[in-house]
Amino acid sequence: MGGKETLKPLIELKDVSYTYPDGTCALKRVSIRIPEKSIIAITGANGSGKSTLLLIMAGLLDPQEGCVRFRGIDMKELGCKVRHEIGIVFQDPDDQLFAPTVYDDIAFGLRLLKLSEKEVRARVYEVARELGIESLLSRPPHRLSGGEKRRVALATTLVLNPPVLLLDEPFSDLTSYAAEYLMNLIVRLRDFGRTIVFTSHDVDIVAELSDYVYILAKGQLVAQGKPNEVLCNDELLSKAELRPPTPTIIYRELMGYGDKCPIKMSELLSILNKVTALHSHNE
Ligand SMILES: Nc1ncnc2c1ncn2[C@@H]1O[C@H](COP(=O)(O)OP(=O)(O)OP(=O)(O)O)[C@@H](O)[C@H]1O
Ligand SMILES: [Mg+2]
Repeated sequence: MGGKETLKPLIELKDVSYTYPDGTCALKRVSIRIPEKSIIAITGANGSGKSTLLLIMAGLLDPQEGCVRFRGIDMKELGCKVRHEIGIVFQDPDDQLFAPTVYDDIAFGLRLLKLSEKEVRARVYEVARELGIESLLSRPPHRLSGGEKRRVALATTLVLNPPVLLLDEPFSDLTSYAAEYLMNLIVRLRDFGRTIVFTSHDVDIVAELSDYVYILAKGQLVAQGKPNEVLCNDELLSKAELRPPTPTIIYRELMGYGDKCPIKMSELLSILNKVTALHSHNE
């Protein structure tokens, strides 16, 4: 996130409350601003309202109270026009995949746009290469492993190249190698001007990846800020039943509580390297 221009919210939720038809209150007076060209994390315990929040941002759920704006316009006025602008990948890939083959699932949205079959094929193969799922293209999606399904579900949205991507728990089921690859891909997308909102209860990933973090607890926003401002605040984290990132825990174990608070592995390593260099200099 850079100058003033990027701070203008692309999506804005104001005092949004949502209750499911069975009476479960999932969100209470939540206000959120999503600036353009940024990576925003929504974190919190199970059942804290992360997925509900993403569905509301996508315009798929209509809150009973509060308002949702996209580029300053009320989401209700935009109706289905917003579909081309906001792509969502659901927490459960089975909600996303329905075609007989992986190829058809990824091609589905492109075919709706009436692209030629040649163009469809080129774009399906391009995204499949990017996500390492080329070998799965002829397989039925319901027979894939959890991690494979998650990557295919991501491909069905990425292939449409929407300016906003809402990713619900995109890292669950992924090996650490695949998760690292996805983190790099998300950073590249942001650097190409995309806006990415993702949910995760993995605080280490939130620390490594996000420009800004919102923390939910029992449907309410309990904290927001830059990752290094909120992710080592034990009081805030405990309200949301979260622990600090691993580098913070290791740092405190070795050095005690100090002014510095590394939240990323690279920050911890840089501090430890400096300390080690100082020690060997003094010897
Ligand atoms: N379709 C539904 N009908 C009724 N209640 C629901 C429905 N979907 C979610 N809820 C409830 O709404 C609350 C918020 O759920 P939500 O799925 O948004 O949480 P979450 O933070 O995404 O959780 P998780 O980390 O487990 O994915 C929970 O109490 C949940 O039980
Ligand atoms: Mg969820």
